Amino acid sequence: MQGRGKRLTPHILTLVGARPQFIKAAPVSRALAAAGLREVLVHSGQHYDAAMSARFFEELGIPDPAHHLGVGSGTHAEQTGRMLVALERLIRAERPHWLLVYGDTNTTLAGALAASYLGVRVAHVEAGLRSGNMRMPEEINRIATDRASTLLFTPNSTAAEQLRKEGIEDGAIVVSGDVMFDAAVMFAHQARATSKVLHQHRLPDGGFILATVHRAENTDDPMRLAAIMQALGTSGMPVCLPMHPRTVRRLQESGTAVPASLQVIEPVGYLDMLRLLEAARLVVTDSGGVQKEAYFAGTPCVTVRTETEWPELVAAGWNRLVPPTSAQSIREAIAEAASAPKPESAPRFYGTGEASAIIAGALAARCE
Ligand code: UD1
Ligand code: UDP
Repeated sequence: MQGRGKRLTPHILTLVGARPQFIKAAPVSRALAAAGLREVLVHSGQHYDAAMSARFFEELGIPDPAHHLGVGSGTHAEQTGRMLVALERLIRAERPHWLLVYGDTNTTLAGALAASYLGVRVAHVEAGLRSGNMRMPEEINRIATDRASTLLFTPNSTAAEQLRKEGIEDGAIVVSGDVMFDAAVMFAHQARATSKVLHQHRLPDGGFILATVHRAENTDDPMRLAAIMQALGTSGMPVCLPMHPRTVRRLQESGTAVPASLQVIEPVGYLDMLRLLEAARLVVTDSGGVQKEAYFAGTPCVTVRTETEWPELVAAGWNRLVPPTSAQSIREAIAEAASAPKPESAPRFYGTGEASAIIAGALAARCE
């Protein structure tokens, strides 16, 4: 570690920046505090709209970030480059015992690079996931982050096995379980008790499709985007589509029509999202997190992608993968998923809801 002076109480510098990272950080921040660790939270500013960022801090009781890098949007290089420069300065000043990063976004990669250049150990939550598709920026980010990490927390044993295959030492891998499962368990009751989202949007409990679309390979390909919109518009069920700002922008730029039958709404908060996931008849998504959350809620899912990081859900019959190359193939997958009986078993693929405590415990034991 470069720099001078004594380090204070063991502390963790946590870097977040995109919507799913706020949700993942919520249970982990609580667990770090319970383990007696000082957490300094840094927000990269990758997501910045109130509906994509501030709302989650308020709603989920996440501590206010001590530092905000304010990087905003841009190309991958612009965004990651701005973060790297700002993080180098910050990590030198903070001198944390660990830098903690989540998932596979540009924020994750920038944190892993900046810390490892400075000799600060990196802990990666959601390590070992692979889609096998190197055209996805997320796949590049994941692999590079895993290589740069000293401690790798995996959501399941398949991801741990993947890391071993790639030559990561066994001692660096902790099968913690999935922090998104922790979050879903932690906030389920509150969501049921407080969310008014069904009433607000007049959605029939058990009788609508919840859809989310934001992945670059879908939004940035006008043919795919149009196929998804058309399929949803002709599914024969009410569709609620909380729309990611990227998708809003790409629909406008490409002039893609959104069928009038779709109920397009602003991105919702996490508690409303949990309620929607539970009340939906079916989820249609290209989100990594939403595929799993549909499963946690016991709702079947159709994933409009060519591959998934969560193949166990496809194998168990809870998720169907459909490459979104034509409206017809998506419509057929939706019809099939809506009419099929739910699979009988729902194995605990993602731990017991204690991943955050396991992560905090492992970090606390390594803050020498
Ligand atoms: C990023 C992640 C993706 C993750 C997703 C979660 C990368 C490479 N991608 O994708 O893995 O699944 O976050 O949601 O890191 N925008 C706004 N307001 C915001 C944020 C974004 O208007 O608060 C718009 C901007 O036009 C921006 C675009 O959305 O250019 C894309 O945002 P960006 O953060 O670059 O990528 P995401 O698509 O959100
Ligand atoms: N989410 C939310 N409101 C929305 C859409 C998604 O709270 O309008 C939550 C969702 O429940 C999950 C996370 O955001 O916890 C997933 O984020 P996203 O789909 O943006 O990213 P990904 O998981 O694909 O990286």
